[in-house]
Amino acid sequence: MKYGYFDQSTREYVIDRIDVPVSWTNYIGVKELCGVFNHTAGGYLFYKSPEYHRITRFRPNGIPMDRPGHYVYVRDDDTGDYWTLSWQPVGKSLDKAKYVCRHGLSYIKYQCEYSGIWGQQTLFIPLDDPVEIWDVVLRNNSGKRRRLSVFGYTEFSFHHIQIDNQNFQMSLYASGSSYKDGIMELDLFYEDNGFQYFTADNTNDDASDFDCLRDAFIGQYRTETNPEAVERGSCSGSFELGGNHCGALRRVIELEPGAETRLIFLLGEGNRDAGKKMRSKYCAPGFSEVDTAFKTLGNFWKEKLEKLQINTPHDGMNVMLNIWTLYQAEINVIFSRFASFIEVGGRTGLGYRDTSQDAMMVPHSNPEKSRSRLVELLKGLTSDGYGLHLFSPEWFEKQTKAAFKSPTVVPLPPMSQRVHGISDACADDALWLIPSIVEYIRETGDFGFAEEKFTYADTYNPETNEGMSETVFDHMKRILDFSAREIGPHGICKGLRADWNDCLNLGGGESAMVSFLHHWALVHFCALGKRLGKDVSKYEEMTAKVRESCEHELWNGSWYTRGFTASGRGIGTPASKEGKVHMESNTWAVLSGAASHDHGIAAMDAVDQYLYTPYGLKLCDPAFSEPDDEVGFVTRVYKGLKENAAIFSHPNPWAWAAEAVLGRGNRAMKFYDALCPYNQNDKIEVRKAEPYMYCQFVAGPDHSAFGRAHHPFMTGSAGWSYFAATRFMLGIRPDFDSLVVDPCIPAEWPSFTVRRVWRNAVYNITVENPGKVSKGVKECKVNGQSVKCGKAGAEIPVQSKGSENQVTVIMG
Ligand code: GLC
Repeated sequence: MKYGYFDQSTREYVIDRIDVPVSWTNYIGVKELCGVFNHTAGGYLFYKSPEYHRITRFRPNGIPMDRPGHYVYVRDDDTGDYWTLSWQPVGKSLDKAKYVCRHGLSYIKYQCEYSGIWGQQTLFIPLDDPVEIWDVVLRNNSGKRRRLSVFGYTEFSFHHIQIDNQNFQMSLYASGSSYKDGIMELDLFYEDNGFQYFTADNTNDDASDFDCLRDAFIGQYRTETNPEAVERGSCSGSFELGGNHCGALRRVIELEPGAETRLIFLLGEGNRDAGKKMRSKYCAPGFSEVDTAFKTLGNFWKEKLEKLQINTPHDGMNVMLNIWTLYQAEINVIFSRFASFIEVGGRTGLGYRDTSQDAMMVPHSNPEKSRSRLVELLKGLTSDGYGLHLFSPEWFEKQTKAAFKSPTVVPLPPMSQRVHGISDACADDALWLIPSIVEYIRETGDFGFAEEKFTYADTYNPETNEGMSETVFDHMKRILDFSAREIGPHGICKGLRADWNDCLNLGGGESAMVSFLHHWALVHFCALGKRLGKDVSKYEEMTAKVRESCEHELWNGSWYTRGFTASGRGIGTPASKEGKVHMESNTWAVLSGAASHDHGIAAMDAVDQYLYTPYGLKLCDPAFSEPDDEVGFVTRVYKGLKENAAIFSHPNPWAWAAEAVLGRGNRAMKFYDALCPYNQNDKIEVRKAEPYMYCQFVAGPDHSAFGRAHHPFMTGSAGWSYFAATRFMLGIRPDFDSLVVDPCIPAEWPSFTVRRVWRNAVYNITVENPGKVSKGVKECKVNGQSVKCGKAGAEIPVQSKGSENQVTVIMG
């Protein structure tokens, strides 16, 4: 069953059957003001932090679903009938009204055709102003003159998620609203800058045209579905010091047959004066600044996407990689997994492993953000070499203002307690940072970054803004040394609180995943060290030792063991009854370069045999059914969900990459296709979730809802899909001094093209596959000149800045 389609010409996903089974979300705002909204305009807006500064309220996990939101009501003043431009909250019958939601890149368009009126509400945030624009267009298709009232409505929050959800005695009487000069102003008196405003292009001070009190607008015993003000056709001019506040503005319009009108509502950060400034900018006659801001936003994304555009025989891959997968990966870096309808904003900060991986995926399209994330992570590293599992970057930055204080909020613990000990360390966290740094340097050529100095978390003194400071290269050494030190009896890294798998809690037991990751990080580190002319012999020896322990202790004759419990029991061995084969150990054995070719082939064959399903690869098989605390929380999750044998999306691309390393392009594509959301666009009765987004997991065959996808957007699977598909399957990989082309594709592909911008030059790459092979490059010409080709693919030297280069690669 289908609910919409991908519109390539506009780079939108168009929902043309609006009653989708679950929330289909999108994000607006890419800097400080951001919002997450669903297909019916439900959602919330926040400024910098959804935990400390949420602007509009959201009642998560509630019924009716996804309320409140940023709504535009339209009322026919002749009949009293009313509706919203988004299907909900009024929810007109779909027999009588037609709704469309267009999810675009950082904007959403809600369209509605009802009773002869076509309407559209576009939500977006200009790149450089903290204001959300509601650009509303109404057209009279009814053939008769219409008198309409249009209401913009939104409910404000008390900013801090805790005081917005508990102990209202501290917020309810210290927040006030007022209306003056056509601008509603919210004042959270307990904060220095607790102001927001709501205004429109044409407002007046008539009491019937505004409400600042939610309960006055909605009315008693009512909801957003039937607000009293809309039913009545006028607001009541409410405002008060104390209470729950809303922005509600009424506009009265008359439309001749065929006529169209445009209205702008502005919801912004700042006080009434800020609102006035934004109103004079965006609401000047003709609204040309709105159009310019929308265009600038479009160009912002266009420029990012154009860093890498592909044209392959696979339509789904083209659409996903050219638009949605990069978009999703970028959103993850920007929002760092803390704002969605699942992660509702109460747990902000940076997760060490997630952020390290997110930063690795977009150095070409967002080098500034990648770099700033890397720096934040370097400062969140302890001098012992482990990362703080969850931390706020502000802890390690010069304090410019006092932390937010409210009597109801748990006080921020002193720094000594924020820096957790090794008992809370996750064994993998900091290892991810090393390849991220190296990939950033390969992409940008910013070799100097390795020599920049940053402090360690446990040595940082916020009073003096000082601490022990070492180079990035030294930070990397401490990470590698930590993993070399923290090993168990088999010489394999300890699992500690968790490895990549949050639910595998091995403590002093050992984790194959971490040892393989250690190997991978070492390979990256040594390559960088050599390029920088450093002595890395100690780490080369470490690499060899890790590889030897892995092959010796983890190869179990059939595949790679997942680890050992603290009492020495094997996990993921042929003898295991449950959790016999695991994705992490087998894919990483190959991807890390630690496995021999033959063992790699056998390991990935086991992945195919035990873990493949038509919706992607399961994380392990068979599912655990008996609680076993030596293994971890995974044994206490229902079978087929999350880490317990669900199709956990994030590791799926590891398998595509591993297959590409082994040269099996058809297998890599089989795995790619299984997970690909695009391929499930017509299976929404099964998938339920958005077909334009990877989800954290898809229920596995052990579960009654096999195939149902959960937790869209905020997942590392986006970045990893992008990384694995572009760098391993299509094989376009930046190295320190060359752009490598080393594809591994389905043998039947005759050719494909890639336009890649790298270090300020354009590479128009055409890959021909006359011999119908999956891997191997026999010839490569750059602007007609042959370049080096070998086992590792073609190596295109860095071309001069500003140049446009034609590259032909012949596989064989
Ligand atoms: C979630 C976590 C991530 C973890 C994964 C597997 O996605 O955010 O850190 O690696 O689950 O447990």
